Amino acid sequence: MHIIRRAALAAAAALIGAAAPSHAGPAYITVGEAAHALLAEVAPQAREHSGADVPVMLPAARGSRALAAGRERVRVVEIDEARLPALSQAVHERLHRCGGFVHHDSLAEALATLHRLQQPAAAAATPSYAIDDSSTVTPLLAQMQDSQILATIERLSQFQNRYYTSSHGQAASDWLASTWRSLAGGRTDVQVTQVQHRGWPQKSVSLLIRGSVKPQERIVLGGHLDSIASPAGNEVRAPGADDDASGVATLTEVIRVLMAANFRPTRSVEFIAYAAEEVGLRGSAQIAARYARQKQAVLGVLQLDMTAYQGDATDLWIFTDYTHAAQNQFVADLAAQYLPELTVGFDRCGYACSDHASWTQRGFAASFPFEASDAHYNKAIHTAADTTATFGNHARHALKFGKLALSYAVELGSD
Ligand code: BES
Ligand code: ZN
Repeated sequence: MHIIRRAALAAAAALIGAAAPSHAGPAYITVGEAAHALLAEVAPQAREHSGADVPVMLPAARGSRALAAGRERVRVVEIDEARLPALSQAVHERLHRCGGFVHHDSLAEALATLHRLQQPAAAAATPSYAIDDSSTVTPLLAQMQDSQILATIERLSQFQNRYYTSSHGQAASDWLASTWRSLAGGRTDVQVTQVQHRGWPQKSVSLLIRGSVKPQERIVLGGHLDSIASPAGNEVRAPGADDDASGVATLTEVIRVLMAANFRPTRSVEFIAYAAEEVGLRGSAQIAARYARQKQAVLGVLQLDMTAYQGDATDLWIFTDYTHAAQNQFVADLAAQYLPELTVGFDRCGYACSDHASWTQRGFAASFPFEASDAHYNKAIHTAADTTATFGNHARHALKFGKLALSYAVELGSD
C-alpha cells in the first residue's frame, strides 16, 4: 500500500515535472494592472505585499505623439512560482494584453524595484540626439536584406523551443553565439560572449564592438532569445518565430551589415540576445542590475521584441510607458530621416511587457519600437502557431526595424 502510494506519487510528480516549468515555491513579482486584474482568479493564494502609483507617459490619444502624464498601479506580490505561466497565458488569452510582470530574487528586491519606479527618472547623462551620420548610415541601409532576416528566423524557429530551462533553449544560445562569432570574423575589437545567469541554464548572448574613442560609453541593442508556450516544459513546441526570433534575427542582420562594412563606432555598441524574458524579464534584469552596480555608462538602449508581423497600416509603433521620452523622440526622428516612407504611431504596452523595462527600472534610457499597436499584436505568440506563416513567410516588416536599429547604432554609437 505504502509502496503503491509512493509509486503513484512519483508518477504524478513526473507528470507535473513535465508540464511545470520550474520548481514550485514562493516567487516575488512586481505586476502591473493587466496581470493584477486576473490575479485573484488565476492565483487566489497570491498575497499582495505593497503597491504604488507609478508615473508613466501615455499618448494623449491613441497613436498620437503628444504625451500626457498618467499613472499605473504596480504591486509587489508573493505567488507560487508554478502559477506564473498560467498568469501570463490568461492575460494574453482573455485580455489580449501583455501580462507583464518582473520576477525578483527576494521580497526586498521586489520592494526596492517598486521604490525605484516611483522616483522621477534620474537625470542621467543623455547623449546628443543630433542626426548627423547620414553619409555612413545611408549606404549601409542599402545593404540590409529581408531574406537574411527570414533565414535567421527560420533557423531559430527550428529549435523545438527556446525555453529558458530546456536543453533546446541552451542549444539555441550556443548556435547564436557561434553565428555572431563568425560574423565578427576574428576582429580583435569585437567580443562575443555567452553570459551565464544565476538560477537557470540558458545563457544570454552578447556581441560587443569596443568603441574606438570612448569605449567606456556604451549603446545596447537587444531582443530576447527565449520562447514559451504552455504547458511549458522541455519538449513543448514553441517556435517563437515572431516572439522573438524576429527581434534577434533583425539584430543579427544589423550585425552582419556593420561587420561587412568594417564599421568602427567611437562609443562601444553591444548587441544582446537575452535569456529568460518570458518568465519575468529575468535575463535582462540581471544584466541591467550588473551594469548599474558597475556604474557602466549605458547611454541608450533599444529593444526589438516582435518585428515581423504587421498588425496595422501604421508601420512602427513606439511605446511611451516605461521608456525614455527624449530617446523615443530621437527614434521617431531617425525614422523620419532614414525611413520617410514609413508611418509612426505611439502606444502603451503596460508594465514590464519586455526587456526595456529592466533597463528603465535601473535608470537607463530605453526605447521599444514595436510591430503593431498594442491591440493588434500577433495573437499567435506563446503557441505552437507562432511560425513564419503568420507573417506571410517574409521579413519585409522586420527589415524596417533592422534599418531603424542600424541607424540608431550608428548615430548613437558615434559621438
Ligand atoms: N513579446 C512579448 C511582449 C508583447 C506582447 C508586447 C504583445 C506587446 C504586445 C513578450 O515576450 C511577452 O510575452 N512578455 C510577457 C511579459 C513577461 C514579463 C512575462 C507577457 O506579455 O506576458
Ligand atoms: Zn517577446
